[in-house]
Amino acid sequence: MRTPRHRLIRYSPLDRANHWSMAMIFILLALSGLAFFHPAFFFLSHTLGGPVWARILHPFLGVVLVLLFYAMAARHVSRNLLGENDVQWMRQIRDVLDNRDEKLPPIGKYNPGQKLVFWSLVVSIALLLLSGVIMWRPWFAGYFPIPLIRFASLIHSLSAFVAIVTIVIHIYAAIWVKGSIRSMTRGWVTRAWARHHHGLWAREQEEKQREHS
Ligand code: HEM
Repeated sequence: MRTPRHRLIRYSPLDRANHWSMAMIFILLALSGLAFFHPAFFFLSHTLGGPVWARILHPFLGVVLVLLFYAMAARHVSRNLLGENDVQWMRQIRDVLDNRDEKLPPIGKYNPGQKLVFWSLVVSIALLLLSGVIMWRPWFAGYFPIPLIRFASLIHSLSAFVAIVTIVIHIYAAIWVKGSIRSMTRGWVTRAWARHHHGLWAREQEEKQREHS
């Protein structure tokens, strides 16, 4: 089926299925992880079927998240490198926050804020995996000395904190920029949206569309 002329495709069905699976798994991991973190959050273990199931499933779900996340990250990494206009965009952060978008330089597929979210997740999810494997009883923890397991538990909590704060910012930004959520639910954005928020990407996509028409 041809895409209507006023629309630009932003995410493939595979990207969207991957993203929303990752979002659901992340929420389950965050809630069950909080249940292990402090007795006040113990009731959250019921999100995975009670304390015993939560303890069994949490690490396996973590591995699924890692696979889904790095599969998506690998496809998006080149779009998340810092470009020339990004530096200028960051210098004009006041214009960004005050919605003076017309003063900002044109941006590629992602703006520097989105790129920061991306790299923060790349690092925090890698640390969660590494520290999680070291603590994972009964499979791997037996191979490591107890002080290292304790250190891993500290790193796991700190990186989970960073990942959760990053995702809260990610969700806030997705709601703040109208039309953004639709790109991840329906896969397309309007030309006007793309020109307004991601001028360089819009130009590139329009050129591609012209070549194929
Ligand atoms: C309910 C929670 C979430 C919502 C509402 C949400 C929303 C969105 C939206 C609207 C986009 C498209 C932004 C654009 O193209 O301009 C996006 C992209 C993305 N999201 Fe989410 N998201 C959620 C959870 C997550 C989680 C849990 C992760 C990772 C663990 C994640 C990772 C990503 C990545 C990697 C991208 C591509 C952007 C990039 O490469 O910089 N999202 N999300």
